[in-house]
Amino acid sequence: MADRVLSGTRPTGKLHLGNLLGALENYKKLQGAESFFMIADWHALTTEYESHTSIAANVQEVVIDYLAAGLDPAQCTIFVQSDVPAHAELALLLSMMTPLGWLERNPTYKDQLAELKGKDLNTHGFLGYPVLQTADILLYKATKVPVGEDQVPHLELAREIVRRFHHLYGKEIFPEPQPILTKAPRVPGLDGRKMSKSYGNCIYLDEKAPDVTAKMKTMVTDPARKRREDKGHPEVCPVYYFHQQFNAASVETVASECREAKRGCVDCKLEAAGKLNEFMEPIRQKREIWCGQKNKVRDILAEGRKKASVVANATVQEALETVGVRSRD
Ligand code: TRP
Ligand code: SF4
Repeated sequence: MADRVLSGTRPTGKLHLGNLLGALENYKKLQGAESFFMIADWHALTTEYESHTSIAANVQEVVIDYLAAGLDPAQCTIFVQSDVPAHAELALLLSMMTPLGWLERNPTYKDQLAELKGKDLNTHGFLGYPVLQTADILLYKATKVPVGEDQVPHLELAREIVRRFHHLYGKEIFPEPQPILTKAPRVPGLDGRKMSKSYGNCIYLDEKAPDVTAKMKTMVTDPARKRREDKGHPEVCPVYYFHQQFNAASVETVASECREAKRGCVDCKLEAAGKLNEFMEPIRQKREIWCGQKNKVRDILAEGRKKASVVANATVQEALETVGVRSRD
């Protein structure tokens, strides 16, 4: 059988360059008749249930980011998780047979509990996050799941749940999903750490060119290069990462001039910002156009909901029959 692709994005705000290079570029390559890209609003709620922000408004932003980045609704199915109730149904079914110990041992769970200290995440929903994610994947019988490194344990758990389901009910109905890791796993942010919303070090897809340039000017550089005469080490400099990504033609020159102290960091940053802005301009323009076409966005999601529901409902039916909750007649 041909590969089926499913991935999801939590709508916790606008997408940034790290999301674009780390995930969306990968999605774009994988889009074809058998690909599903989902806005995981239930997953956002697992950590945002206390904050009264509008998850629905964030869903709109993410869809527009998807479209502006080049996902084509004629080639893939774009839909919102809560629009397809089958996600909640299969998650509940899988929760019956998922051992608590598997969820408590999940490294992502432990990391997130420690990291998101301001939030009370001692909830049923948050512990069950990977069960819901497994349901997302199994509903479409996805074989390939493009994700970041941090999601690998969730995919492992998904395969364990599949094996347990098959073992318990004696019928193999789900493929074991495999992760597809991105080639640009770690996009640096302004402070040199991984670009992440929670670090406040992001460049967002909707930012205007002068704002991007202003942010780039604040980016950290090689810490060993305190004065203009000091020789630099481009490989440790986040600005150089942007030259590698967006200034391929001059990247060797940038590196050698940096190493020999023949270029200043201010000029180097301006050059990187110029190239980054060239890359971002078409995305920004498409974003604006989509922002003015809210009805069209609504139609795309309605169509996505229809296409996703057909597949997902059939799988829920099959799973409930296999378990013995429903009978065929
Ligand atoms: N947990 C994923 C993340 O935080 C988002 C997600 C939800 C997902 N459901 C999914 C990813 C299904 C892949 C497949 O990035
Ligand atoms: Fe980084 Fe460029 Fe400065 Fe070298 S010259 S340290 S690559 S900003």
